[in-house]
Amino acid sequence: PAPAASAPVASAPASAAEPAPAKVYAVGTDAAYAPFEFQNEKGEIVGFSVDLLNAVAEKGGFKVKFVNTPWEGIFNALGQGDRDVLISSITITDERKQTMDFSDPYFDANQLIAVKENSKVAKFDDLKKLKVGVQTGTTGDEVVTKLQGKTATTIKRFESTPLALKELEAGGVDAVVADNGVVIHYVANNAGAKFKTVSDTKSFAPEQYGIAVKKGNAELLAQINKGLAAVKADGTYNAIYKKTFGT
Ligand code: ARG
Repeated sequence: PAPAASAPVASAPASAAEPAPAKVYAVGTDAAYAPFEFQNEKGEIVGFSVDLLNAVAEKGGFKVKFVNTPWEGIFNALGQGDRDVLISSITITDERKQTMDFSDPYFDANQLIAVKENSKVAKFDDLKKLKVGVQTGTTGDEVVTKLQGKTATTIKRFESTPLALKELEAGGVDAVVADNGVVIHYVANNAGAKFKTVSDTKSFAPEQYGIAVKKGNAELLAQINKGLAAVKADGTYNAIYKKTFGT
């Protein structure tokens, strides 16, 4: 008689009954944004965002792999499916929501002005006629473009925020406008640059960072939000915050 259908098959690997390994999602991040996402001496992508998403993935039941992705192409990389997730200190904006979906917010931010120690700049409006450095396509770029106008020739756009800050140090621009966390970190770690910060919260709308997925990827977004809620609830988020910012 033929063997019963349930008879063990000698050639079947022992692991045949185990679930297929979880898909590893490619995460795009512009890793020139300390302390959020940057490369350490070994070239590894590290920082607040990396620690956070690793923890979120663990709680959300998925796996991630970080891929350094220049800011200027980062949204296209998501749209084209070259990246599954973006975590790159991305401010959630109505305009961006048209082309991608965002997780619940995970970080509050604001624009901050960096100038040389001897600068007379005291508020955002003082930048109206000055040379201002920004990272292309960031919310800092947006606010400065709004202040000076689309055709202003005094806005100097850079591929990364550190490049804009280096130009400030070199004297090529009078100010840089960028996310507060990054500006504060840079000023604290580059005493030789002789910068100070000028805060003007009346001129800048509060911002919130979100993790982005391709528009319509509801399943992954739900996993991310589930993981995010879990790390916020169990103290993991606070521990990562403390590790990064020391408070
Ligand atoms: N929060 C700002 C924005 O969304 C700047 C983010 C830049 N991030 C980066 N990794 N360079 O426009």
